Amino acid sequence: MRAAVGQAVLGAMLVAAVLAFATMQDFHGLHVAGVTRVTVAAGSLSAWLAFVAFVVRPRRSAAASATDILVVHASQTGFATELAERTAAMLRDGGKAAVARSIGELDAVPADAARLLFVVSTTGEGDAPDVASVFRRDAMGVRPRLYGLHYGVLALGDRDYANFCAFGHELDRWLRDGGATPWFDLVEVDDGDDGALRHWQRQVALACGTVATADWSRPAYGAWRLRERRLLNPGSLGGPCFHVALVPDDPASLRWKAGDIVEIGPRRARDDAELLPHREYSIASLPADGELHLVVRQVGVGSRWLTEGASPGDRIDLRVRPNASFHVPGDARPVLFIGNGTGIAGLRALLKARIAAGYRRNWVLFGERQANVDRLHVDDLERWQAEGDVERLDLVWSRESRGSRYVQDRLRASAVEVKRFVDDGASVYVCGSLAGMAPGVDAALRAIVGDRALEEMAAFGRYRRDVY
Ligand SMILES: Cc1cc2nc3c(=O)[nH]c(=O)nc-3n(C[C@H](O)[C@H](O)[C@H](O)COP(=O)(O)O)c2cc1C
Repeated sequence: MRAAVGQAVLGAMLVAAVLAFATMQDFHGLHVAGVTRVTVAAGSLSAWLAFVAFVVRPRRSAAASATDILVVHASQTGFATELAERTAAMLRDGGKAAVARSIGELDAVPADAARLLFVVSTTGEGDAPDVASVFRRDAMGVRPRLYGLHYGVLALGDRDYANFCAFGHELDRWLRDGGATPWFDLVEVDDGDDGALRHWQRQVALACGTVATADWSRPAYGAWRLRERRLLNPGSLGGPCFHVALVPDDPASLRWKAGDIVEIGPRRARDDAELLPHREYSIASLPADGELHLVVRQVGVGSRWLTEGASPGDRIDLRVRPNASFHVPGDARPVLFIGNGTGIAGLRALLKARIAAGYRRNWVLFGERQANVDRLHVDDLERWQAEGDVERLDLVWSRESRGSRYVQDRLRASAVEVKRFVDDGASVYVCGSLAGMAPGVDAALRAIVGDRALEEMAAFGRYRRDVY
């Protein structure tokens, strides 16, 4: 501060001298020399202003603050959150003060941050995770001044999608444009690739002056058995949809939270057949049910094995992946659950968790094709409504369109009640199709509560989506 005042006084003196010099030449009528000297004077003045701007420009403290390193995560289905927490834990093990925080808690890059790590995924069709919507709109909408900031980006994605790691690259470009310095090149992770994660660990450890000790390989698949399989929609116009019940060989594996996801390990459909990739499904039950339920539509080879090839008693390789961004609020605030098709799986587990905790302000809006054949687990929804655990149930059958055809139409038709529910503090959970339903519901919610309000709900975890 004192230095800045000193510079200002010095600058003022310099300006005065420069102006006096320039004026004096004009006074003597030495036109040619005067022009030259005025140019020199203007040049000196600009040089001085540039110097001052350089010296007093906002700088980020390179010195360590209470938190040395902030690890910011932007996750849609939980993996980025998990990796950010592991990164922070690894740094703490190495004696650094590191914390992980959601991007939804940030309005901008914190002014005092000198070191930042980002772990971000890409969702939809090259989109940022919901929780990053406000940051992307407000902070990334302008060019920041980030001189002195050092950062690293771990970008999660999947090469099967057209815009591989798009949000990670967008964030990286924005940080560079703002003058921040990358510690190392952005690290792309294709479908959780272990090699890329080890590379990230090493780069982070090197940049932060610690060592990469933690083992980040994903947990091994556990041995589970197929207990029961039942067709849920005989006669449906859509693909056959199965209720699949699984039990672990080790009862201690009955451990997850509503909203979590399972990964079924890669396997061969037949002895000679190609290796089928791993598949992910939303869990439809609670550990208290004593079994793990899935709702699986028979599309493609992976699900065909689970819905047709495997026999009861067969071994299934399975592991649970926590999806913290899809857990239910741990209090009595109301929740609006919206879903279609196999999205009933996630909704069913979340509702079971809400009901078990005694929270009854649940509004469910579910859509399928035909009321008589596509009921999936609608019996459960109706029972919960009858018992008062679901305060409102809207079932929307697209092939029997009396009134609303899809859940998004019913949402718009109920705009006043939806707005009131949200004003009452409701969270909104959406589970099901990425094509059609998710954008339709998003547009309806924007029309009802407003763009800004919905983006803020997403940033604060009150608008959560598990869509695929
Ligand atoms: C519905 C959906 C859409 C996705 N879209 C993309 C995409 O456009 N580009 C990409 O690179 N990865 C995409 N992915 C892959 C995810 O980025 C990847 O699975 C990542 O590990 C998820 O991390 P998260 O759990 O933190 O959200 C998509 C995944 C899902 C489920």
